[in-house]
Amino acid sequence: MLPYNKVCEVEDFTHPDLLPVLREVYPHELSRFGQNWPIGREYRKEWEVAMSIRAFRDLGVLHPNADVLGIGAGTEPTIFYLTNHVHRVYATDLYLQEWQSESANVGMFLNPDRYWPSLWNPRRLVVQHMNALDLKYEDDSFDAIFSSSSIEHFGGHDEIRQAVKEMARVLKPGGVLSLATEFRLAGPSPGMPGCLIFDEAELTGLVLGSALWEPANPLVASCSALTRSAERPYTELLAVVQAHVAEYGELFYHKLVWPEYPCLGLTYGPLAWTSVHLAIRKQSRQDSL
Ligand SMILES: C[S@@+](CC[C@H](N)C(=O)[O-])C[C@H]1O[C@@H](n2cnc3c(N)ncnc32)[C@H](O)[C@@H]1O
Repeated sequence: MLPYNKVCEVEDFTHPDLLPVLREVYPHELSRFGQNWPIGREYRKEWEVAMSIRAFRDLGVLHPNADVLGIGAGTEPTIFYLTNHVHRVYATDLYLQEWQSESANVGMFLNPDRYWPSLWNPRRLVVQHMNALDLKYEDDSFDAIFSSSSIEHFGGHDEIRQAVKEMARVLKPGGVLSLATEFRLAGPSPGMPGCLIFDEAELTGLVLGSALWEPANPLVASCSALTRSAERPYTELLAVVQAHVAEYGELFYHKLVWPEYPCLGLTYGPLAWTSVHLAIRKQSRQDSL
């Protein structure tokens, strides 16, 4: 079985636990790139989203009564896919403070359709401007929470601890948190300016180690030689995103094409990193007695 808590590896894209989820979540990528997709087109954002959906499904929170919260959610595919399967999706981000004009912007209030070319249900989406450090919800509100590529941008460790505390507070007992962030494969802490990159000890201290919840499995932090051999310079990928934003005015995942695949690992000076996914269940009231 593919672990839920693991570092992104190119082999995951052909794993029978993940490949069908990728193809179900992204029907338009099959139309765009052919029926062999994602083989030869491995991209870590799509891995993060599929890992999240798979965890929600397997851990029993993908159902028609579920309320799901996205934190630092931008325009990510998880939001749209989930509207087909749950009661309501609350997408939150600093939408009114455009973030590097890439991912969070007012377009999510005005015309979210343009960010997702496949089927979704606009009647089940609530978009709210909200700081992850101060969630405007009652305790125990959500069956599931997802946060992908976001906590690393919240500031320092104190801000992340506050955000994690908020996630734990608004998650229902028995609810599931799916968190994807950056995992450091080489180089020193804390990462890049404006973007923390974590190792296993840091993730344990900040997220996994809380007594409030239980990881779905112990973190598997190894990364295959094949994945590592395909690492690309961060500056190269940044230039691709900047050219895309210059052409389209903002980031559209479904129009993005990388010059080379797999597009999973990045390097910058001594640093090397890729994505990690964590799935955690909040203790039920009974467990905490
Ligand atoms: C790299 S983007 C990822 C967006 C989206 N999750 C995705 O995967 O496409 C990081 C996001 O974190 C958001 N963000 C940064 N600080 C935040 C905060 N304090 N509260 C909520 N969102 C925040 C940014 O606005 C941005 O949309």
